[in-house]
Amino acid sequence: MGRKTPKSKEKLDKRKEEKALLAEHTALVNKANSQTNPLSSFPAFTKFSKNGLDVTLDCKRVADMDESLIHSIFNLEKENMKNLYDECSWGWNDKKKMEEMTEEAARYLMAKNEAGELVAFSHFRFDLDYGDPVLYCYELQLKQEVRRKGLGKFMMQVLELIAFTSNLHKVILTVLKHNPAAVEFYKALKYEVDETSPQNSVFEEECHYEILSKLNKKIFKT
Ligand SMILES: CC(C)(COP(=O)(O)OP(=O)(O)OC[C@H]1O[C@@H](n2cnc3c(N)ncnc32)[C@H](O)[C@@H]1OP(=O)(O)O)[C@@H](O)C(=O)NCCC(=O)NCCS
Repeated sequence: MGRKTPKSKEKLDKRKEEKALLAEHTALVNKANSQTNPLSSFPAFTKFSKNGLDVTLDCKRVADMDESLIHSIFNLEKENMKNLYDECSWGWNDKKKMEEMTEEAARYLMAKNEAGELVAFSHFRFDLDYGDPVLYCYELQLKQEVRRKGLGKFMMQVLELIAFTSNLHKVILTVLKHNPAAVEFYKALKYEVDETSPQNSVFEEECHYEILSKLNKKIFKT
């Protein structure tokens, strides 16, 4: 057995550093995931009464939701997104979408009207994304009649509050480029193209989606 050269020591130190960082990031995600209801720390954010809307917000893990609620969520998702999925290579598939929406890690931020009917939801998860601890917003879906009244913006602000107080590095999401309302909405909320977003190149087919994110300013000071 030969002695360690300075170069291999450098490599070893770097690997140790990377391992420590991954452990730190995993611990942040695990801590966020240990919360049953991350919204319970922010009671002021459980109501949205503005522009003629009066809704109550609630946050649940998918395992704590009953079947009829899951179906209301799925139906809203399908109503809003089926055509957009069918217009690109993703294609809509009921079974695949239901599986994704009910995976164990799925959490839901939900808005209900005074009659207790679901009017909006966000499917989100606490996760590692390329090693970074993030809140991944899988979906934000509002019924037609509650749009353009500030509820979508409020729900994204709630997700940001949850993510950043949990010391996660960013809120991240995927948006279809042929969904101009959503593109404009995230632009208005100051989401930017994430470093992990696929880049179009002359060698590749144009990509129909983009990955957008907002960084945690406490961690990434400008
Ligand atoms: C996209 C969506 C979530 C936006 O939610 P919303 O509550 O309607 O949006 P808000 O009222 O909070 O809008 C905030 C700002 O975003 C921008 N914006 C929102 N909708 C827009 C639209 N259709 N066109 C252009 N800009 C828009 C505006 O700047 C708006 O501010 P303003 O109303 O003061 O001009 C909602 O329209 C929706 O659920 N759409 C169908 C599903 C969908 O596409 N989801 C996104 C999947 S990634």
